[in-house]
Amino acid sequence: MSTHPKSERTKKENRIERLVAVSNRLPIAVQRKGGGWQVQAGSGGLITAITPVLKNRGGLWIGWSGTTEEVDWGEELNIASQKSGYRIHPVTLTPEELENFYFGFANEVIWPLFHDLTTRCNFNPKYWYFYLQVNDKYAETIGKYSLPSDYIWVQDYHLIAVAQMLRKRRIARRTGFFLHIPFPSPDVFMRLPWRAQLLRALLEYDLIGFQTVRDRRNFINCLQYIAPNLKTSGRGDVLTIQVDGRTVRVGAFPISIDYENFASTSAGSAVQTKLHWLRESMGGSQIVLGVDRLDYTKGLPERLKSFRLALERHPDLHRKLTLVQVLVPSRTDVPEYQQLKSEVERLVGEINGQFTYGGWAPVLYMFRNLGYEELLAYYRAAQIALVTPIKDGMNLVAKEYCACNLEEEGVLILSEFAGAAAQLQKNALLVNPHDIEGVADAIYRAFTMDPEEKKARMKRLRESIKKNNIFSWVDAYLAAAFSKKLDDFPTEEEYVPDIRLEREQDS
Ligand code: UDP
Ligand code: G6P
Repeated sequence: MSTHPKSERTKKENRIERLVAVSNRLPIAVQRKGGGWQVQAGSGGLITAITPVLKNRGGLWIGWSGTTEEVDWGEELNIASQKSGYRIHPVTLTPEELENFYFGFANEVIWPLFHDLTTRCNFNPKYWYFYLQVNDKYAETIGKYSLPSDYIWVQDYHLIAVAQMLRKRRIARRTGFFLHIPFPSPDVFMRLPWRAQLLRALLEYDLIGFQTVRDRRNFINCLQYIAPNLKTSGRGDVLTIQVDGRTVRVGAFPISIDYENFASTSAGSAVQTKLHWLRESMGGSQIVLGVDRLDYTKGLPERLKSFRLALERHPDLHRKLTLVQVLVPSRTDVPEYQQLKSEVERLVGEINGQFTYGGWAPVLYMFRNLGYEELLAYYRAAQIALVTPIKDGMNLVAKEYCACNLEEEGVLILSEFAGAAAQLQKNALLVNPHDIEGVADAIYRAFTMDPEEKKARMKRLRESIKKNNIFSWVDAYLAAAFSKKLDDFPTEEEYVPDIRLEREQDS
């Protein structure tokens, strides 16, 4: 029983002192190797975006361990926490949960549906129950390892029902949600058998964040179908909805990158050395760069076909332009991802077979996760970036490429269906990734663009990304959540958990 006067307790509980990020993917994942465990870096834009935020302020990151086995972490977790500057708490999934929640509901229902690829969806009823079960498991973990003074910041589509589960368990926390992927329009979303339940679950958060105004509009339009009595009010960045006497805020917050870190690291000597080697090895050919997780949303076959067409139509590109395509392994146990890999490799083989001449091969293909400095060296070396997803929440590669383009001589070719297009469309070459001829033309246009135009475009792209960086993103989100900024939180060294609240929590 607490000895606090009630008003003091209420004041403390209202104070938000620590960020607790909750996502299915942690920045680290373990894998069995020989008799022990190997800690690996997780991949994807969510990790790139959230890592600098927690590194800056400290906090706690709750997420999946990457395995279905109970891991004997030993000192590994403390070491990883110390290195990263925030604490990490892993959640273990059972093999059945992994199968039905992660591979099932997350990857066979929400992922394709929210990317408008309805024919790839598998609406297996079993998946939904596992989705709720795992979301509840996360809620239970949050209840155990967080305090009422924490802000529970849930990330992405795997964990939409966490706030609902917290409420069911009577775990009182301030909660926010951010969706890193697009939100579909009603004609797509309404196919979901659990459409009402999923919207209801989202409305349990105090703040729901989307990548773009279009995603937010889609969400509001879907709500109008399911719950026409709910009224949305307000204007500008953040709207409000009254739900059962609560106020739910809904905003568009385009995510970004730690611009300064990308720019300064790419100017550093480690990247410089790699860049020098890379330029030497290209033998005078320019680079058009693709960097993607191997995913069917990234428009990879279409991109390769566009590059092939550009080579067919413009022989002056031969030996002068090489497509360097980095594919980061992703969801490798899923048959569709394996098929995509085969298709990509077949196309790469065909193009190289058709055009390789002397010492020049038109496509250099890598299937691995690059180190940070190696990736930055490729960004710096590339004269053109080819970012052509069929649909993408934001696409951070587009922003990273510009941040690293120190000489401001590069050209960004960008799909109009990437969330990043809302911000970068004026100064990128905007393309429809399905339009093979259009993308081939854009490649040639980028290759032949006047240096002054390149410079003017890239300068404006970089200014915009520098201004709208990951820290302005988090500040905009926190301001909408409770009128705070990231700097208002104590740093990892300054943070002293309220032992009294902690004890109450435990009792
Ligand atoms: N990335 C990586 N390893 C690599 C290449 C890229 O970790 O070898 C990172 C890249 O820096 C970017 C992220 O993967 O931050 C991809 O994010 P994006 O938003 O472009 O797409 P997502 O993978 O989230 O769909
Ligand atoms: C995208 C999603 C993330 C996800 C990442 C990697 O960036 O928005 O939530 O973590 O892809 O996918 P994976 O299935 O490996 O977590």
